[in-house]
Amino acid sequence: MIARAQVAVPEYADEVVRGLTSAHKTLPCKLFYDDRGSAIFEEITRLPEYYPTRTELEILRDRSREIAQAVGSPVSVVELGAGTATKTGTLLSAFTQRQMRLKYFPVDISPAALDDAKRRIKQECPLAVVKPVVADFAYGFSFLRDIPNRKVILYLGSSIGNFDWSDATTMLRNVREQLSSGDALLLGTDMVKGAEFLVPAYDDSRGITSEFNKNILVRLNREFGGDFNLSAFRHIAEWSPSRSRMEIFLESLRTQSVSLKSLGLTIRFANGERIHTENSYKYTTEMVEQMLCVSGFKLERSWFDRRRWFGLHLARA
Ligand code: TRP
Repeated sequence: MIARAQVAVPEYADEVVRGLTSAHKTLPCKLFYDDRGSAIFEEITRLPEYYPTRTELEILRDRSREIAQAVGSPVSVVELGAGTATKTGTLLSAFTQRQMRLKYFPVDISPAALDDAKRRIKQECPLAVVKPVVADFAYGFSFLRDIPNRKVILYLGSSIGNFDWSDATTMLRNVREQLSSGDALLLGTDMVKGAEFLVPAYDDSRGITSEFNKNILVRLNREFGGDFNLSAFRHIAEWSPSRSRMEIFLESLRTQSVSLKSLGLTIRFANGERIHTENSYKYTTEMVEQMLCVSGFKLERSWFDRRRWFGLHLARA
């Protein structure tokens, strides 16, 4: 019999090794979202400083009827990365006022989240027919082919902003390839604003965001037998105007070595050395228009909150 490692090493082990041994240390931001990380993120969305979630929700509450009208009907509504679909109810209700038997396809990697989504939408919007789709976008968007009717794809929450430009446009292009001309995309983006608003949103006064960022180290300690000392790192959030993005790091507060036992890895940190854990791009309307255009979409209309802090953009394939 072939000997096997006793503890299964998660499939992102290679990414972790590569990230921590490169000249500019990085960790993949998907590692944030284990159970504890997802719970802390929920808490972030309720912080006074973290405006994106409530601002987008405000636009959806105020403008859903206009949005549904501009999209037109009949449509199947497909939500990418729907999670538990906490934001989608009002928009779906606006669609059901225009269309009987609206079909809603929440797509997510987590079956548990989709169960919640289905329950929530059945309650908030009883006229919609909910058909959850479990899918990992790493394997592409071919599941869109099986969805009937004219489609509107929802990609809310500014998740697009966590991708670099080339990954974002590749993703949008891959989505576009599965659509027919006339199908629609409703894209959420966080807009450029003053650093005095951006920085606190990613570095709140109660330290919840710091806890969220450091949870990635908690996870490495647990899953890879690591000995990261959480108090020997600090959370950093910086606005880079030239790159139009918030940059999130964990900075080593001293010279230190950290080992990840199950990877057989020892990592040295200089005092002040950083691990880059996330980018969050902020857009101008010109950037949004260009991103959509190079991906094969045409920007039709945008909706903003009063301060123009967040945008919902309707684009046509
Ligand atoms: N991806 C989200 C965003 O860019 C999540 C997030 C909020 C986040 N605060 C954070 C990610 C702090 C890393 C660190 O808004």
